[in-house]
Parts: sequence; C-alpha cells; structure tokens
Amino acid sequence: MGSTDALDRLLVTGGAGFIGSAYVRDVLGRRDGTRITVLDKLTYAGNEANLAPVRDDPEMAARLTFVRGDIADPNAVGPLVGRADAILNFAAESHVDRSILDPAAFLTTGVVGVHVLLEACRSAPGQPRFLQVSTDEVYGSVDVGEADEQAPLAPRSPYAAAKAAGELLVRSYVITHGIDAVVTRGSNTYGPYHHPEKLIPLFVTNALDDRPLPLYGDGLQRREWLYVSDHAAAIDLVLRHGMRGETYNVAGASERTNREVVSLLLEYLDKPWSLVKQVEDRPGHDRRYAMDGRKLAALGWQPTMSFEKGLAATIDWYRANEAWWRAARSGEWDDWYLRQYGQRLATATSALPPGSGVVD
Ligand code: NAD
Ligand code: DAU
Repeated sequence: MGSTDALDRLLVTGGAGFIGSAYVRDVLGRRDGTRITVLDKLTYAGNEANLAPVRDDPEMAARLTFVRGDIADPNAVGPLVGRADAILNFAAESHVDRSILDPAAFLTTGVVGVHVLLEACRSAPGQPRFLQVSTDEVYGSVDVGEADEQAPLAPRSPYAAAKAAGELLVRSYVITHGIDAVVTRGSNTYGPYHHPEKLIPLFVTNALDDRPLPLYGDGLQRREWLYVSDHAAAIDLVLRHGMRGETYNVAGASERTNREVVSLLLEYLDKPWSLVKQVEDRPGHDRRYAMDGRKLAALGWQPTMSFEKGLAATIDWYRANEAWWRAARSGEWDDWYLRQYGQRLATATSALPPGSGVVD
C-alpha cells in the first residue's frame, strides 16, 4: 500500500487514553464516513470520560463502538481486527517511572500485545493496515544533534525497551509475513486529558493545590514538546499516506529544559517558584530527546501549536476540568504517589530559581 483515504473502519486500541482519545475525537469530528471501534483495557490510565465529547454528540456517537478488552487476548482481538480496514495501536503502559517500579505489564502489553495484534492482522482476510504508535524514547538519550529514522535504537528504560521491542516485531512481520504496517515515533506530548502522573499535568494539578512540585535532579533534562492534536493529526497522515514498512518521527520542535517548562507554567498559574523541590533523580534518566522531523514534513505535516500557546490552553483546560483530574488522582493514586515521591519529598531540597546558580 502506498497511500489511501479509503480507510473507513478503524480499530483504535488504547482509545480511552490520552493520545488515543484525542485521535478518536479528532477523526470522528473531521471524517464523517469513518466508524471507530475502541478496544481498551481501561487500566488506571484509561478513562471512558475522555470520549465524552463524542458520546455527547449523537451523530458522532453513532459511529463509535467501545469494547473493554486486552490487546494481549487473542479472543478479544481476532474478531475486531477481522472487521477493520486499519488498526492503530495506541495501547501501552506509558509511564517511565512506573516501568522502573513495575515493568511486567509494560512487556505484556508492549510486546505480547503487539504480537497478538500482528498475528490477527496476518490471518485477517482483508489485510488491514497496521499503525504502531511508538516513541522517541527508543533512540535513548540524544545528547547532541537530532536522531533521524535511521539512528540506532538504544532504549534505556523498561518502558522504552518494551516500545522498541514492539516496533521490531512490527518490522519483522512486514518483512517476513508481508503485513502492511507503518510506525510513528512521537515526542513528548501534552494537552487536555493527559493523566496527572506526567510532568506537565502533575505540576499543574499540584500547583493548583499548592503542593510541592518534585523536579528530578538538576531539572536540565531536555524534551521536545508536541501538542496532542498535532500528534493525532500526524498519526492520521501517516496512516493514510505513510509508505508500507516505513517509520516516521513526529518531532514537536519545541525543545525546552524541564526547568523552563516549570517556570513557564508557574508564571501562567501565578504560583511561586518556592513550590519546586529538587528531588532524587529518576534512575537512568535520559538527558535529552531530539528528533529530525524532515521525513514527516515531506509528507505534509508540521506542528501548528506553539509551546507557549499549547501550555496556556492545557492549563486552562485543567482549571476548567477539576472533576476530571481529581477523579484521575483517586483510587490507587495515593499509594502510588507515596511509593514514587514519599522518600524523594522527605529528602528534597528547594530548587534553585531559574537563572540563579544553575546554567539554564
Ligand atoms: P495513556 O497511558 O494515556 O493511554 C494508554 C491507553 O492504553 C489507556 O487507555 C489504557 O487503558 C490502554 N491500555 C493499556 N494496556 C492495554 C491493553 N493491554 N489492552 C488494551 N488497552 C490497554 O498513554 P498515551 O500517553 O496516550 O500514549 C499512547 C501511545 O502513545 C502509547 O503507545 C505511548 O507509548 C505512545 N507515545 C506517548 C507519548 C506521550 O508523550 N504521551 C509520546 C510518544 C508516544
Ligand atoms: O518522549 C516521549 C515520551 O514522553 C513518551 O513515550 C512517554 O509515554 C511519556 O510518558 C513521556 O515520557 P517522559 O519520561 O519524558 O515524560 P514525563 O512526563 O514522565 O517526564 C518528563 C520530564 O520531566 C522527564 O525529564 C522527567 C521529568 N519529571 C517527570 C516527573 C513525572 C520530573 O522532573 N518530575 C516528575 O515528577
């Protein structure tokens, strides 16, 4: 397959998560011929409320089917894959810190789950297209320059290793079994409906409650930020126009240190820097991610949202959707937070303010 717009029946795994739900909302809103089945296990990170804007619109709701199930379960996957023109695999355990504490589920979903999906594609009569949503973390820390799609895979966390393994399985099925598959590698994504365990929503929601903001190490790690609707648009473009067997970087092109991100968000929230606590670093913490985005630019995509505007829109969304994030910070949240941050916060120091003492 070279390119086509005629992919009308989509199976979106992980469609109740952050980026998957943005994709579903976006595509059902823009393409009135498209029907989507979401297959989602509803882990702590999945939330059907992320699909509420679709459910609240009768016309879009009629084109959405939700199935609760596990991508590692062939009985759940087989019939759904058999009825789809294309499968987009967003399903994953997505938090690096949790992969350090409890890696098993990362491997089950990221490797076994991908294998189950690929086997189902292989035996499906219609030869559906398969898109694997991957990450810039597969390149490991990129201390200078930018990684293009040919750069070696050098994952450094259990999360990144599981994502790299999933990608390699996809590649093997393209070569060995002739599956029609493409891979995207996205950079750090942010925006509405982002689970509050991740840097930006954690710090925004903690700051709204005047709680400490646990900044790892010196805070000079660098990430390339990508607004979630830009990421969803890139994935849809690769689904429809990506070349079979190819991989595409989705580069946010907004590189910032974590200190810069925190400084900006505190300024927008009108909260003091004194909330920021310097805590013990993440083990194996990747210093920098940076990707060359020219291959996807040649396909016709570029990010449309500046980081400053995207961050402001994100913070406005969290302010307006307190019930959503308080629900996400319930259940297992307190136990997990204590495990992840209890000791760190007990031994924290005040982080030096931006521009003083640390070379920013
Ligand atoms: P998320 O954690 O918000 O959502 C993951 C979703 O997958 C949840 O709805 C969860 O319930 C579901 N899920 C987990 N295990 C499952 C299983 N075994 N079967 C079915 N559903 C399952 O994650 P996200 O941030 O939306 O990330 C989505 C994808 O994008 C992931 O593959 C991630 O690796 C990739 N990615 C994320 C980013 C980022 O910055 N968030 C950047 C690049 C790539
Ligand atoms: O780069 C793409 C990846 O981005 C995705 O593949 C992952 O699914 C996604 O979670 C994200 O991974 P990161 O580890 O970069 O994101 P996180 O929000 O966890 O952390 C961003 C940076 O902030 C990182 O340098 C660690 C730092 N950090 C994070 C947290 C949660 C802190 O300093 N303190 C924190 O409490």
